[in-house]
Amino acid sequence: MAVLEHLEKKVRQLERRCLDHKIIPIEGAQGTRIMVEGRELIQLSANNYLGLTSHPRVREAARKALEEAGAGAGGVRVMAGTFDRTQALEQKLAAFKKTEAAVVFSAGYTTNLGVMSSIPDKGDIVLSDAYNHISILEGIRLSKAEMRSYNHNDMEDLERALAESQNYRQRIVVTDGVFSMDGDIAPLPEIVDLVEKYNAILIVDDSHSNGVFGENGRGTVDHFGLHDRVHIQVGTFSKAFGVMGGFVASSKIVCDYLMQHANSFIYSTAHPPSTTAACMAALDVVMDEPEILERLWDNTRFFRNGLKELGFDTGKSESPIIPVMVGDAKLASRFADHLYEAGLMCKSVAFPTVALGEARIRVIITAAHSHEEMEQALKIFERIGKDLKIVT
Ligand SMILES: Cc1ncc(COP(=O)(O)O)c(C=O)c1O
Repeated sequence: MAVLEHLEKKVRQLERRCLDHKIIPIEGAQGTRIMVEGRELIQLSANNYLGLTSHPRVREAARKALEEAGAGAGGVRVMAGTFDRTQALEQKLAAFKKTEAAVVFSAGYTTNLGVMSSIPDKGDIVLSDAYNHISILEGIRLSKAEMRSYNHNDMEDLERALAESQNYRQRIVVTDGVFSMDGDIAPLPEIVDLVEKYNAILIVDDSHSNGVFGENGRGTVDHFGLHDRVHIQVGTFSKAFGVMGGFVASSKIVCDYLMQHANSFIYSTAHPPSTTAACMAALDVVMDEPEILERLWDNTRFFRNGLKELGFDTGKSESPIIPVMVGDAKLASRFADHLYEAGLMCKSVAFPTVALGEARIRVIITAAHSHEEMEQALKIFERIGKDLKIVT
């Protein structure tokens, strides 16, 4: 069939350019060491910042809820009913994020689709950081609003965009709190000042900062002390919290609006009780065991400094997401293949996920990595980096 031939051609094209995603099957649990085809690898590619995917309290909560309430939700929340435990999670989340309310979605991705497609309306303009996550862009495309991208973290460009869009009904600025491919932070204090000066709305996607930045991991908004000045915060349970599911933390009216207007909330089945219970337990762990967050930062500093001392360029990272810059996509892909053969699970990322010529290995350090694992990983980086002449 011609259509299928077209698809095959596109798949082969990506493979030839080393831009295809390799799907690697892992056996058993996610952790700092994973089993792949009978071989143990050190995991440096999971967003499991606090190591909670396998935390005993999180596992036990999921197991108990599965036994008590079964495997599935049975339908969308607006039709089949909302579990009381989901509402309890939303209350706990609002308290954690210090907002009036919160609403849970099935994933971080669908949260951004729901928020960005339903809040900006006809006659509005969305000003979006050029490095924002793809789910934000896809959400904006589904909306009736116009979009203008401003240069990454460039406050002059953002101000220009705000000044030039005064004729729109509403201006909505959206930014990641921590950027997923570079690990740098949005300059939220400056963004908030501009948003207030131009009377705009601010949405911050804190997917990579919840559980990582701020008091007890409350995110970048808390880190910068901007609680009453950011209108809408998006988050996910799939990264530091180690489970899955997205959420919005905001005012009650915003959450009520989303429950009535965000299609990804209305028309997608709710989480199974076990997922909700695991998210609750993860939040409890984050609050009760702050030493895990301290360990995350100790490990991040240790590994990033180790890479720098070896001569690697770690870009502008200020978080546990550490890009090891390579430049050329094919070289980055070879680097990742060699690291994999040597026992490290870490992926190369290239265009279009990052800018052309900025291919890199994306490393993620977690609180659960031991010093032995990090030292072993650094030795492998050194050996292969020298073999491939990425460092001297
Ligand atoms: C900034 C950002 N927002 C949203 C998402 C989507 O979150 P989830 O994986 O929970 O769907 C991601 C995931 O990669 C992300 O990096």
